[in-house]
Amino acid sequence: SEEWLARREKNYVSFNSGMVRILPEGWMYPATAPIYLNTIQDFQFREGDVVIMTMVKSGTTWMQEIVFTMLNNPNLDHPNANQPLWERSMEISFDMNFDTKNFDDTGMAPLYEAFEKHCPGKKKEKGILIQMIETLPGRRVIKCHYPLQVMPSDLLQKAKVVYVARNPKDVVVSFYHFCKVIRGLRFTGTFEQFVKDFLQDQLIYTPYWPHVLEAWRKRDNPNLLFVMYEDLKADNISQLRIINDFLGTNLNEMQLENVARHTSFSSMKSRGEPVKDPKLFLEESKGSFFRKGSIGDWRSHFSPELNAEMDKWIRNNIGDSDITFNMGE
Ligand code: A3P
Repeated sequence: SEEWLARREKNYVSFNSGMVRILPEGWMYPATAPIYLNTIQDFQFREGDVVIMTMVKSGTTWMQEIVFTMLNNPNLDHPNANQPLWERSMEISFDMNFDTKNFDDTGMAPLYEAFEKHCPGKKKEKGILIQMIETLPGRRVIKCHYPLQVMPSDLLQKAKVVYVARNPKDVVVSFYHFCKVIRGLRFTGTFEQFVKDFLQDQLIYTPYWPHVLEAWRKRDNPNLLFVMYEDLKADNISQLRIINDFLGTNLNEMQLENVARHTSFSSMKSRGEPVKDPKLFLEESKGSFFRKGSIGDWRSHFSPELNAEMDKWIRNNIGDSDITFNMGE
């Protein structure tokens, strides 16, 4: 709408510099997405690859670290475990292949440096991240914000997908703070505006429901594991056992304890931001990527009216699905 466009103009510094809607569900993605969605159709997944698939702010980073640690570092002695996470577990749903000089603003410089390291002398042609992922050895842990329906149709025959969902109120709170502190996004509007845009599927990576419900419907597929952020938080070790079975990693209880310790909120936060150069990524004075890591923080953000509006939106969108969320105390 006109009103929304005007607001976006004012509040979303780089949101308005390039988003596209991708049919059929009207996904809001970075403008480069259509190119890379085509490339992804030809991407060769390997047996053993693990795709961490999420709607944003649902525990992606946490699950990436859990799966990476289970596959590569269950004894906590892996030499590369302190490399920034994004380099050990790269994203397939965000990419670029153009050269930009404006590194300080976009935070993309480390990506270009990593490309030189992983693909020395190679031309940037398909997308920097896709080309780097292709060179990673063994079982790759691939981050993906695209939903199942835009991925290659044989994804679940070739790779394993760990899908993480989180209750939508905590997602929107987390997303709001993220969009405020990340240099590339810099949202300056109010929480209420942000939530309204989320409910109208106007924010990047929305809509929320088709993403989550599609994966929920496929939760019985043997190559898809549906994990709730809240379960992972409330009953961590039981969920790690389930993930261990799903991946076939055969970790013993001591190793699972290692994974739990290494991937706890405080431990991950103490190791720093999940990127190579935090100063380029976010405004450190405004906050950290590892913000609260809790269930139910939405309660300190919503007015009763906004909460009622969101409850209605949730009811309307859940429809007759039997999915339920833990909203926290
Ligand atoms: P909050 O903003 O509510 O704190 P994503 O990785 O999908 O972007 O999700 C980010 C959210 O997951 C943030 O939520 C972040 O703090 C939380 N998170 C990251 N690591 C976590 C961990 N080890 N345990 C619990 N929550 C974690």
